[in-house]
Amino acid sequence: MRLILQQLRREAEGIVSYEFVAADGGLLPPFTAGAHIDLQLPGGLVRSYSLANAPSERHRYVVAVDHASDSRGGSAWMHTVPRPGHVFDASAPINDFALYEDAPLSIFIAGGIGITPFVAMVARLQALGRSWQLHYTARSRQRAAYAQALNALAHENGTVDLRCTADGMARPDIAAIVREAPAGAHLYCCGPGGMLDAFTAACAGLPPQRVHLERFAASQEAATEGGYEVQLARSGRTLQVEPGRTLLDTLLDAGVQIQYACSQGICGTCCTPVIEGRPDHRDDYLTDEEKSANRAMMVCCSGSLSARLVLDL
Ligand code: FES
Repeated sequence: MRLILQQLRREAEGIVSYEFVAADGGLLPPFTAGAHIDLQLPGGLVRSYSLANAPSERHRYVVAVDHASDSRGGSAWMHTVPRPGHVFDASAPINDFALYEDAPLSIFIAGGIGITPFVAMVARLQALGRSWQLHYTARSRQRAAYAQALNALAHENGTVDLRCTADGMARPDIAAIVREAPAGAHLYCCGPGGMLDAFTAACAGLPPQRVHLERFAASQEAATEGGYEVQLARSGRTLQVEPGRTLLDTLLDAGVQIQYACSQGICGTCCTPVIEGRPDHRDDYLTDEEKSANRAMMVCCSGSLSARLVLDL
């Protein structure tokens, strides 16, 4: 998809939102709350950004970027280079963090820029007249993007609990929020790794279909131990993965055509079917069940526990 940057807006200290429209002036593909788009940035960088506008809108996509959250160059570029009129290549919306719209209550736990998917989710629940609860942690009020707009929506259907840590406020007690969640409530978390880990631990006893989380950064290091071979079933080629190299590095060096985006085991783009062998799963994309089944792996970050892997490549 080709998008044109229509306007930039300062949403909070260090956080800028970007409004895109279709380059051909038409309607954009529809999206559901929780979806993201992948933007192609210079130097082969691909960055995934959650859509923050209401899913009912077809004329624009809005994403927000935190200057401090990305140490790998994408957010620094976004904050300094593009101006209105800049043309971007982007994926169509993808939703790995879908909202379960029929829940009697949706509980959102957000940290920092992790608020963005919940802005779209709250808009959707407001349109449906469904109940929601937002627990939002930011460093300060100045850094709490969208807090005012969300507060303004919190009347009959919603509540907002904003905690600003630099103002000495305690972080939300995630274990207590989960413990006190009414039966049937769906719980969502998007934020820094520590928050997601606390959320995962607190939700361990809940049915997985009621628990939803989205990571912005990998929770584990990529496997670079090497010392195994990978056989490509379609071409019959065998490659050696050397120590210090990821499986994706090895495949790309050998000229294998493979799709990838985040390189961190988050987006799922590089998911590759496994025919034989035991992957060393390091991603945050597959479920525990999918990992134990060993039928697929994220080649950008995962390695091998067996001496040989056979992949459907
Ligand atoms: S490229 Fe995103 S999971 Fe591998």
